[in-house]
Amino acid sequence: MTLNSVLITGASSGMGRALACALARPGRRLWLGGRDPARLDATARYCAGQGAEVHATLGDVTDSHAMNTWVRGTNGLDLVLACAGVTGGTHVAPSPDLGPYEPEAQVRRIFETDLTGVLNTVLPALEVMRGQPRGDDGVRGRICAISSVAGLVSFPGTPSYSAAKAAVDRFMVASGANTRKAGILLSSVVCGFVDTPMVARNAFPMPGLTDVDTACRRILRGLARNERRIVFPRWLALGSRMMDLLPIRVAEAYYLRQPSGAPGTMPQTDLS
Ligand SMILES: NC(=O)c1ccc[n+]([C@@H]2O[C@H](COP(=O)([O-])OP(=O)(O)OC[C@H]3O[C@@H](n4cnc5c(N)ncnc54)[C@H](OP(=O)(O)O)[C@@H]3O)[C@@H](O)[C@H]2O)c1
Repeated sequence: MTLNSVLITGASSGMGRALACALARPGRRLWLGGRDPARLDATARYCAGQGAEVHATLGDVTDSHAMNTWVRGTNGLDLVLACAGVTGGTHVAPSPDLGPYEPEAQVRRIFETDLTGVLNTVLPALEVMRGQPRGDDGVRGRICAISSVAGLVSFPGTPSYSAAKAAVDRFMVASGANTRKAGILLSSVVCGFVDTPMVARNAFPMPGLTDVDTACRRILRGLARNERRIVFPRWLALGSRMMDLLPIRVAEAYYLRQPSGAPGTMPQTDLS
């Protein structure tokens, strides 16, 4: 797999940071994006210390114009990793009569970051890759977006997150059937809980919690094998697929008994 030039969103934390650090080596150009200056700088310094040529750019994935300029300005990409994302669960209603809810600002932020932000990364990357020659293996480039096992189910605890991740997975897997004819390989990562700052303050047990380095290795192995959908842990994804086949009322009765489905058990979504 040729990886001379790699672009990563969400490189300031969690999986994006771990992937950047794992890929950093002499002769490799890394284009790193994030919003937090200190944390992005920490990733950039580590990667430069490993010998990579690092270009760190502060930016918001929801800004389509800035993303277009940034991605096209790379002048060639072998791999794009769309890792930037936010999550959020339901809130406790002010009156018990109203039931759990997601504030409108949270719903919009999750869709804008996790879905539109991925499109703002993937669409210009596709244009860049269409304009570059095929490598010896016939590949022009690879683009990978992080979805989630949450996208496999209609989970009432995280409605917007589940929906945005489902859309990302469907888009990447379905589009990949078309782009592979042009030598552009698309992948969707359908992962369960990964031990990153995103889940560190969840007030419920997280079955199958994977450490970030293992997750990173699994993603890179899947990419090296040209997997369209990179799935881990498999048992969680399989169980989720089966849950989704059940009648809604049956599945819902189970979900609503899960500690992770309870309103107010996830930290509030960062709306800054
Ligand atoms: N951790 C899990 O259990 C899990 C499971 C399944 C899928 N995922 C997905 O994996 C991806 C990485 O998550 P993580 O666990 O590594 O979380 P994380 O540690 O919270 O990192 C999230 C990253 O996204 C960036 N980001 C958020 N909003 C952004 C925006 N509007 N513009 C640009 N960057 C933005 C953050 O940048 P700043 O900090 O600089 O703002 C940060 O670098 C996400 O898409 C997440 O949904 C995570």
